[in-house]
Amino acid sequence: MNVAPTDVTRTGTHTAPVAAETTAETLDVLHGSILYLEGITVSFDGFRALNDLSLYIERGELRCIIGPNGAGKSTMMDVVTGKIRPDAGQALFDRNVDLLSLSEPEIAKAGIGRKFQKPTLFEQLPVFVNLELAMHADKGVWATLFARLSSEQRDRIDAVLDGVRALDRPPGHRAPRRPCAGRGRHGYRTERSEGHRGLSRGVMLNLRGLNQYYGESHTLWDLALEVPRGSCTCLIGRNGVGKTTTLKCIMGLLPLQDGEIRLDGTLLSTQPAESRARLGIGYVPQGREIFPRLTVDENLRLALAVNRGEGGRRAYQRVLDTFPVLRQMLRRRGGDLSGGQQQQLAIGRALIVEPTFLILDEPTEGIQPNIVHEIGDTIVRLNREVGMTVLLVEQKLPLARRVADRFYVLDKGRAVASGAMSELDDALVRRYLTV
Ligand SMILES: Nc1ncnc2c1ncn2[C@@H]1O[C@H](COP(=O)(O)OP(=O)(O)O)[C@@H](O)[C@H]1O
Ligand SMILES: [Mg+2]
Repeated sequence: MNVAPTDVTRTGTHTAPVAAETTAETLDVLHGSILYLEGITVSFDGFRALNDLSLYIERGELRCIIGPNGAGKSTMMDVVTGKIRPDAGQALFDRNVDLLSLSEPEIAKAGIGRKFQKPTLFEQLPVFVNLELAMHADKGVWATLFARLSSEQRDRIDAVLDGVRALDRPPGHRAPRRPCAGRGRHGYRTERSEGHRGLSRGVMLNLRGLNQYYGESHTLWDLALEVPRGSCTCLIGRNGVGKTTTLKCIMGLLPLQDGEIRLDGTLLSTQPAESRARLGIGYVPQGREIFPRLTVDENLRLALAVNRGEGGRRAYQRVLDTFPVLRQMLRRRGGDLSGGQQQQLAIGRALIVEPTFLILDEPTEGIQPNIVHEIGDTIVRLNREVGMTVLLVEQKLPLARRVADRFYVLDKGRAVASGAMSELDDALVRRYLTV
């Protein structure tokens, strides 16, 4: 439902009343319209992403924008935050701030904060520096390098950090550096009993005694895990327990302190990351990590570097058969696809290497329900019909139950339970998965 603005002229050129220049500190969040979009139209290569959109948001209102993938939700955000200039229309903030005449940093300074659909963090930089960079959003690269924080800016970062610190590390990270894994109190096989039997027949991926640290923070603790050949094994656990870290260790994207990773008996942990894909591992990272400025076609072709020749060409065509939407959008830039389409592109890119072992990190994160179902169907097909072994991180339990036949639960960097999917009961879910 659109709410008409009370004090903004809606027709003709912009004749909104002039108010004093407003800043984030002085915003009146209680009265009147704070965001006013009128007749916004955005086209990409003739495709209308937004068509004469009008929307008014009141101060203090919490508005949810709902729509299927590709409906234009992110494009609308891009217009509001200055990432995209519309072909037509008007966008006003706080009555008189003309968003279409401001740069992205100026819009941020005017008081519009944005959390992107895919968080773009500087992964190599500490949390504090990531927050500090937001303080220098209006400066160029060189000015940022030499900028110093004021004490007031430091206080603001500290206040944000206080809010998230509780989530930063699991309790117990100060415990001795070599704890024993495996408890067994819940009656499930623990990693100590299961993971130290050596490489059993029929095991595709075998992790043993994995320990990983981010700086001083001990993240994976003596982790052992087996993925049987032909299975779809699901790694589950709350946010921050180490699921992504485990997958990155398998792919060689993070260094291991100790432990061993074998694929089909071959020692992976001593090999560089680039050789691991060649051994037949396809990896779909969390957040997709496609190249937003390259076209769909270019994104897929980059993966051909690992699978040259006839095999790669066949794989490329198979990917387009598997995801017909990608065939329709070959010339579109990856960043202009909807979330679900980007996920299909990311899975397609992983399939170009013709993997025998496929790793997917939360492939349904932030994706609308019918596409979630389709991605589930794809995983089932690749696993049961094509015969790929799959290791999946998935938070949506109904989907995990549908596609996977085995599970591992991670908690604070330890594997605390595992078994057949049918053994994942309410007690385990309550204990390790509910927030
Ligand atoms: N690059 C990093 N530097 C420091 N700590 C990290 C880094 N990546 C993840 N962590 C921390 O490691 C823990 C496990 O993170 P992650 O593997 O991403 O968890 P999950 O995928 O289960 O949500 C978390 O406490 C997280 O804050
Ligand atoms: Mg993760």
